[in-house]
Amino acid sequence: MSSKSPIGVFDSGVGGLSVARQFMRLLPSESLLYFADTAHVPYGGRPLDEVRGFALSITDYLIRSGAKMVVMACNISSAVALDEARKLYPKTPILGVIVPGVQAAVKQGGRRLGVLATQGTVSSGAYTRAAANLAPNAVVTEVPCPRFVPLIEAGKTETVEALNAARAYLEPLSRASCDTIILGCTHYPFLINALSHEARDLFSADCLPRFVDPAQETVREAAAVLADRSAVAPAGELACHRYFTSADPDAVGDQIEAFLGSRIDGCNHVSLDPARLS
Ligand code: DGL
Repeated sequence: MSSKSPIGVFDSGVGGLSVARQFMRLLPSESLLYFADTAHVPYGGRPLDEVRGFALSITDYLIRSGAKMVVMACNISSAVALDEARKLYPKTPILGVIVPGVQAAVKQGGRRLGVLATQGTVSSGAYTRAAANLAPNAVVTEVPCPRFVPLIEAGKTETVEALNAARAYLEPLSRASCDTIILGCTHYPFLINALSHEARDLFSADCLPRFVDPAQETVREAAAVLADRSAVAPAGELACHRYFTSADPDAVGDQIEAFLGSRIDGCNHVSLDPARLS
């Protein structure tokens, strides 16, 4: 493995592209291996042990494929599988998105934090724990948002359904007077238009909440870890991104192009190793 090796990034579907696009923007010399576990999306309503099995299986695949680092661009995977993955693969740096999300909120000066996340992430208590460590004086309100991921995966981000769902999930955060709202699922940055629209209606104009996308802070953390290990891709290196999915590669390839807004050089099918699934 060398500094030119790719960074593995994965999610249940297209959500992790909100993190991948920040890698492309902020670290343009780094190549990516992106894995979308679309055969199993959404993860959010599944038993946490099942999600852990998917996340560990994908991590194993990415490391065997030569990734120099793995980024769990998926909150629920970060919540339930990060500690175990780090124990299983101690030589490879493995990053999650939850601690960076809370760090970003703290940097913004958030004191009344709202977290929009999947049911599994909320049930895991991972945001509550991270906030207790990093922002002990903050008041945290978490809202599970089961309608969001199916809408986003279907490309229905700019629809009345998206606006209605955004309004329903923001209402408790408005009642709690949140000043900062963490997008605690990597799919949700793709709904920022609907969320901002409804927030303007629900919050008073002088108290509009800031939305925090953990992606940039995650990339900053990744850059620091790579620098620390002398594993940064050489400046000017031509990055090569490759895409994999557990579902139909043609359909997922089209979906990835739509979400990235640019052409990709194909998408390949990979079956997860059943021996590694719990
Ligand atoms: N995008 C993922 C997350 O950040 C998973 C969403 C899902 O599949 O429910 O949690």
